[in-house]
Parts: sequence; C-alpha cells; structure tokens
Amino acid sequence: MSLIAVKDLSVGYDGIAVETNINFKVDAGNYLCIVGENGSGKTTLMKTLLELQPPVSGEVIYGDGLTANEIGYLPQQTIVQRDFPASVTEIVLSGCQSRGSFRPFYSRDDRQRAALNMERMGITDLGKRCYRELSGGQQQRVLLARALCATEKLLLLDEPVSGLDPKVTMEMYDLIRKLNTEGVTIIMISHDITAAVRYASHILHIGSEIFFGTREEYLHSGIGGEFINREEEQ
Ligand SMILES: Nc1ncnc2c1ncn2[C@@H]1O[C@H](COP(=O)(O)OP(=O)(O)O)[C@@H](O)[C@H]1O
Ligand SMILES: [Mg+2]
Repeated sequence: MSLIAVKDLSVGYDGIAVETNINFKVDAGNYLCIVGENGSGKTTLMKTLLELQPPVSGEVIYGDGLTANEIGYLPQQTIVQRDFPASVTEIVLSGCQSRGSFRPFYSRDDRQRAALNMERMGITDLGKRCYRELSGGQQQRVLLARALCATEKLLLLDEPVSGLDPKVTMEMYDLIRKLNTEGVTIIMISHDITAAVRYASHILHIGSEIFFGTREEYLHSGIGGEFINREEEQ
C-alpha cells in the first residue's frame, strides 16, 4: 500500500478550487518533486496533504500506518519566520511536539533525538545561537533537523532552496538526497525543474496541464520536454 494516495483531488479555499483533478501516489522510499508555475497551487496541495486545510473535493488516503501528524513539514519561508527569536536547539526540539499529545516538557528521548538530528544536519555547533542571526542555508538545516524530529518516514519540503545561493543550494539538495537514500520518503516543491529531474524519482507537474509519473516518463512527456527546453533557452 502507498504511503499517500490522492484521488480526484481538488484543492483551494472556501470551496473554490485553485487546482482540480489531481491524482498521484507516493510509495515508501520515493522522492516526489512537485513542480509548476507560481500560483498553480503547489503550497495549497501540500497543506491539504498535511490536513491543514480540507480538500474542496476528492480524497487523500494515508496508507502503511501513516498519520498526518507523522509527517515532517518544512514550510515555505516568509521574512517573519526568518526573524524568529529562539535558539537553534529550541526550534529543533519543537519538532518533537507533533509526536504525541502536548507536553509542557521535553523528555530525555526528545533531547537525544534533537541532538542526533542536529548532528546529521551538521549544526551541532549552532545549538545556542539565535535562529534569526543565521544564514539562509543554516536556517534551512535547522528546519530540516526540526522536521526530522517529527518523523523518519516522510518529509514535505516547500521550496527548501528558495533564496539560497548556488553553493548552499547544492549542499541542501545533497542533504535531502542523503536522507532519501537513508530511507526517508521525500515530497518536495520546487520551481527548479532541472534540479527536480536530477534528483526526483517521480514528478507531479501541476498547472493548466497535470502530469504525474516517473522522472523518465516526465522527460519523454510533452509537458516535461517543453519546460526543460524552455529553461535551457533562458
Ligand atoms: N489563504 C488563502 N486564501 C485564498 N486564496 C489563497 C490563499 N493562499 C493562496 N491562495 C491562492 O491560491 C492560489 C495558489 O496558491 P499557492 O498554493 O500558494 O501556489 P504556489 O505554491 O504554486 O505558488 C493562488 O492564486 C493564491 O493567490
Ligand atoms: Mg508555494
């Protein structure tokens, strides 16, 4: 059974769809990239997968024992969030909250998990630093460590490299690929189609046309070929 199966899904706000007829599935170990133009509904779809908002119609089915609170989420960044006044350790630890019902204190297990994921992301030395003083790339590593505290199963990443310089972007993609090879299933939104087809196992392209398939199928599809050629011309 798939981790997530999406059937005839329409996503949007107040009953008004911004995208309709979305169908795809994600199996354990997949690396799905969601691409499409700005405003096509990628973030809205991701929030619907997380049950942060209801579908306009259709359904999202979780399988393999997955529940919505076992999904690690790295939201699209806003300026306000980048200015968050908490320490790195506090932010990473807060990822443990979604594991159970709310507790006022973190357990020793939580602290160990946070320390381990900070080490995995190479940010152990930053523990006491204030989040808002970090570079964009360091901040994204902190949020990845936080998301990993919530789950080892499935990470949803919304534009994780936006605003990062090319070198830090590559490092971020390498980290995400490493997590995927370690068995973490990835769903990542990106507007960078070239990077998407380099790293992903599957592509979901939304917009006026919708495509879902493996990266090879996407490369040979009309929609994939068209977008990749267009990017190369720029
Ligand atoms: N909270 C909201 N209420 C109503 N409309 C929204 C809301 N958030 C986004 N939208 C609209 O939904 C559409 C899709 O937005 P979004 O999912 O953020 O696109 P993407 O992530 O692909 O750029 C856009 O037209 C956007 O203006
Ligand atoms: Mg978005």
